[in-house]
Amino acid sequence: MKTIKRIGILTAGGDSPGLNAAIRAVGKTAIRDFGWDVIGFRDGYLGLAENRFVTFDKATLAGILTIGGTVLGTSRDKPHRMTIKGKECDMTDVIAANYRKNKLDALVCIGGGGTHKNALRLIEKGLRVVTLPKTIDNDVPFTDSTIGFDTALGIATEAIDRLHSTAHSHHRIIIAEVMGHNAGWLALGAGIAGGADAILIPEVPYDVRKVAAAILLRSERGNNFSIVAVAEGAKSVSDSALFDAALKKKKAAKTKEQKDVAKQELAALEGKHVGNTMRLAKELEQLTKLEARVSILGYVQRGGTPSCADRLLATRLGSACAHLLAQGAESVMVAARGDGYTTVPIEKVAGTLKLVPSNHTWIASARGVGTCLGD
Ligand code: F6P
Repeated sequence: MKTIKRIGILTAGGDSPGLNAAIRAVGKTAIRDFGWDVIGFRDGYLGLAENRFVTFDKATLAGILTIGGTVLGTSRDKPHRMTIKGKECDMTDVIAANYRKNKLDALVCIGGGGTHKNALRLIEKGLRVVTLPKTIDNDVPFTDSTIGFDTALGIATEAIDRLHSTAHSHHRIIIAEVMGHNAGWLALGAGIAGGADAILIPEVPYDVRKVAAAILLRSERGNNFSIVAVAEGAKSVSDSALFDAALKKKKAAKTKEQKDVAKQELAALEGKHVGNTMRLAKELEQLTKLEARVSILGYVQRGGTPSCADRLLATRLGSACAHLLAQGAESVMVAARGDGYTTVPIEKVAGTLKLVPSNHTWIASARGVGTCLGD
């Protein structure tokens, strides 16, 4: 086992509250417990390709625990398909060369789905990589939770709480659109915690007539307002079937041409899906004859101060990460498991999403309190 002297850290993908707490925990533990040098690459994998980094010490790691976003900056750049000076380039070898030039013994990548796929590409080039799971979407598999999810859940829940009083005053339907293209954890969690009357998530295709019927039933019972929490990726039964067919086609594609056609079909469907929440509002107005309004929560969910739970999660996973590296860990994600942590091969994580299973307790609880899930 090679002794570690110097490590690099980067944050990649969409930002999420708690990233700085994670950087601080990895860095402080590495410096205090092991005396390693710690550098941080700017803007995700892009900074590693362009060799842009900062050197961390105890002073630069202080005072960042409670700050949202990431002091390192982030990007969605992929090592194998990076836009450099307006041209798409494969920078994987350049990244591997920079890793060696900087005499790194390990790289800590903090990110979600895309970050794990990219980490695997670097592992295949011989880099020693360990990851930490972060995303407000909570869709990284094999970890109890991801850094940023709890904060976003709190923000979305508070928004739904606030929408209640105005929906009630105006006897309206208010639809709160919550982030989550593929996974509905955020919409489902915030919908349950905020007492939404209907919750629509990508994993449960909805029938708008059933949502309208649930709203009308509430009206008959004297509740002339309703709150609908909808994930940005929620789809009607028919749209969902179209997406499934296009995805199947993409998976089955054997040649590059077939893959490109399937990708184009999927992109066209995604393009059509933009504005789905506004269309849903119109449909609900027509079916219920109640006024409907939409609040798109958007990037507010990713911004600002991390919650206590996210600071704790980031600190315990970050600190564990440094200890695991010292013990020889490589090619693993440090995952949250109960009060502790565990390691999961990055190979297992990359390319897999943790979706809400139909038998999940949150689904059962939502149904239990009479929430319409649109099915
Ligand atoms: O971080 C995940 C996520 O918040 C998704 O829910 C959302 O669809 C996506 O990022 C959008 O992020 P961006 O516009 O930064 O690519």
